[in-house]
Amino acid sequence: MKTRIILCGACGKMGGNVLSLLDGDESAEVVCGVDLYPKEIGVPVYKSFAQIKEQADVIVDFSSAEGLLERLDYAKTHGLGIVLASTGFSPADLAMIDDYATTTAIFKTANLSLGVNLMQALCKAAAQVLGDNFDVEIIEKHHNLKKDAPSGTALMLADSVNEVFNGEKKYVDGRSGIVGARDKKEIGMHAVRGGTIVGEHEVMFAGEDEIITISHSARSKRVFAVGAIRAAKFLKGKPAGRYEMKDLLD
Ligand SMILES: NC(=O)c1ccc[n+]([C@@H]2O[C@H](COP(=O)([O-])OP(=O)(O)OC[C@H]3O[C@@H](n4cnc5c(N)ncnc54)[C@H](O)[C@@H]3O)[C@@H](O)[C@H]2O)c1
Repeated sequence: MKTRIILCGACGKMGGNVLSLLDGDESAEVVCGVDLYPKEIGVPVYKSFAQIKEQADVIVDFSSAEGLLERLDYAKTHGLGIVLASTGFSPADLAMIDDYATTTAIFKTANLSLGVNLMQALCKAAAQVLGDNFDVEIIEKHHNLKKDAPSGTALMLADSVNEVFNGEKKYVDGRSGIVGARDKKEIGMHAVRGGTIVGEHEVMFAGEDEIITISHSARSKRVFAVGAIRAAKFLKGKPAGRYEMKDLLD
């Protein structure tokens, strides 16, 4: 039986990519959408989860951090899995997600591309070898409509490096004014916004007389939609808990 998906943020750019990829798919389908600004997309779109009439297996969320509680509640009440692909969640949101994961299958990742998940492992390995002698700076670039900064992916990459240092590093967003010499405990985070850049991430390890850079460039948003669909199929019927790309790739 097909994986039946409720697509939250159905009328946005990522929603459109998911819909077009699933056109003619034999193993998954979007049964309806939820969006603050519904429009005609070929499936019913509701303004809120309370209006949904269709049966489903999984919610795929490509909307925003707002409205998280309604999404999680619907998933819990109806026994659905939920793929949280939106970014910009606050620490309180993250605590709520952990809470719901005791009763609901939740797949959450800031980046659904295979390449970025490999990059995460490479950054961790580099930090293990290079240690404290190399300064880590992360530069991310996105289109001029992106709402959150630094990107969820930049934070995810910083967290992977910071794991190696037992969480000792502090993230410093940009630098301005007389900031003084760089502290060894910093990871600099730099957000560039412009045009239609899909998503670029660069993790720079700057040492004495040498620099190592690990980078990833997404050339289209389709790559994230592919990952979301794979995650939705993976999550169908899974028991409650937190899942991430690593579980899917394993
Ligand atoms: N995890 C990943 O790999 C990944 C990849 C790409 C984008 N994203 C994230 O997905 C989200 C959407 O990206 P996009 O480029 O499609 O944005 P977009 O602005 O094009 O689309 C978002 C859609 O969601 C709707 N929306 C916003 N808030 C909502 C709410 N509370 N309830 C219902 N609908 C709501 C908007 O009306 C819009 O149609 C962003 O948070 C983005 O950072 C994640």
